[in-house]
Amino acid sequence: MNFLVKLIVGCLILTIVRNDVYAQQMAKIKIDPDRTIGEISPLLYGNFVEHLGRCVYGGIYDPESFLSDEDGFRKDVLDAAKDLNITITRYPGGNFVSNYHWEDGVGPTRVPRMELAWSRLETNQFGTNEFMAFARKLGTEPYFAVNMGTGTIEEAQRWVEYTNVKGQSYYANLREEHGHPEPYNIKYWSLGNEMDGFWQMGHLNAEDYSKKAREAAKLMKLTDPTIKLIAAGSSNYRPFADPNEWNATILKELRDVVDYLAIHMYVGNPDDNYYNFLSTPLVMEHRTKLIKGLIDVEMQKADRGERDPIYIAWDEYNVWYRARRGASSRGERALEEQYNLEDALVIAGFLNGFIRNADVVKMANMAQLVNVIGPMFTNEEGMFRQTIYFPLQLFSQNMHGTSLDVYVDCDTYDTDEFNIGLGEQVTRQSDVPYLDVSVAMNDDEIIISVMNRHLTDEISTDIILQEGAYMGEFEVMEVNGPDVKSQNTFGSEIVQTSQKNNISPGDNEFTYVFPPHSYTMIKGKIER
Ligand code: AHR
Repeated sequence: MNFLVKLIVGCLILTIVRNDVYAQQMAKIKIDPDRTIGEISPLLYGNFVEHLGRCVYGGIYDPESFLSDEDGFRKDVLDAAKDLNITITRYPGGNFVSNYHWEDGVGPTRVPRMELAWSRLETNQFGTNEFMAFARKLGTEPYFAVNMGTGTIEEAQRWVEYTNVKGQSYYANLREEHGHPEPYNIKYWSLGNEMDGFWQMGHLNAEDYSKKAREAAKLMKLTDPTIKLIAAGSSNYRPFADPNEWNATILKELRDVVDYLAIHMYVGNPDDNYYNFLSTPLVMEHRTKLIKGLIDVEMQKADRGERDPIYIAWDEYNVWYRARRGASSRGERALEEQYNLEDALVIAGFLNGFIRNADVVKMANMAQLVNVIGPMFTNEEGMFRQTIYFPLQLFSQNMHGTSLDVYVDCDTYDTDEFNIGLGEQVTRQSDVPYLDVSVAMNDDEIIISVMNRHLTDEISTDIILQEGAYMGEFEVMEVNGPDVKSQNTFGSEIVQTSQKNNISPGDNEFTYVFPPHSYTMIKGKIER
């Protein structure tokens, strides 16, 4: 009898364990190279450096450190940043810029100022010329934001003159005096930061912001007609805000003037609900589609000559919620978020969303580069790469060319009602696919990007090429870890990219089993 009970219990345990190991779903992805969405902008793999916490001082710049080069830049950070292939870097803020006067940060005399956005003392030791030296070492396109809060349109114009004009003008001469005879020709300029936010120093309503931005744009373009301008779109999704009203007004007022509309989004997991959290990139995608519609309306009426339509720049996005609470949002250690695997999966979801909307999203900047809600983290002895570093790296190194509109058939789930981040409007997501997919075609290369949201099930997926044939072996790279809460730290990057065995697909079909809570990139050649 005793033996029988033991046998039954044993069988039950075995069944549970086997189910856990082998639970599997089936899915299908169909790829048609003729169904294109748009060209993938290289500027989707941007980043952001703000004077905030230890992003600049102690992050990229630390002249006292034994790890820094002759110009004071942390070599370990620079090397890891180079591996991220950061195409464009936004500077100097962020909320910081709305009370920043760029002349404080150039020349031999640097005046320390109270920094009001993040409650620090700004020494101004690092400014325009130091950032440009960093940008050149990194090989990244600089993207400057002007102060539309406490700054004037004249101050914005003078910054463009300082950076972009060659000749005998006052600010061009000043740059030369500061040791930089050649202009930097900074092409991308944003007209302020998050001007819809009540927290922004010098916050304006949409009409007043549009007027100021239009006049700043006029002066800046008269100084250098080749620059591209980015308007401050929606960042305020608090319950009583009206972000699309803001976007509609800005687009209407600035439709002939600007080249991009900047949108910001931070997501969190305040209720510690994995499936709700993993659906947040779809909120970003929904906002993208709404704004695309608003842009389409205004482009019917715009007078833009030969210029492209207005595009979307997601010029701040990330996971950010833990390090926001209380004292941690201020001072030297501000916003030092520690990321885990589920955060990395959310980032993969964001990046897939950008690719799926490649016709309209033409710039994206992860906020921020190091220490402050960043993919890298330093101390005096060294640095480590956070979990979110790895999907971004896979995308920036591989996901180029044309985005394809693929068919995905897989199981889905519905979320509860939840908050996507602290202070944000509540949402509910239906039919969230367990597989989140985007595909790029770059000449004869096909790059398949798949995030498996399922916490416990692997998903066996037939990947069918509808025209042409797969050629040779396909490379497989995976970001995963023992647990969705796994984090990296100094000396232990437990979540990172691993190279899997190559696969040999059949002529036009192969099956790949995506492990639970994973991000996978598969790439190889096709013949058409
Ligand atoms: O990236 C951190 C902050 O988030 C930026 O300064 C601001 O633009 C946004 O609110």
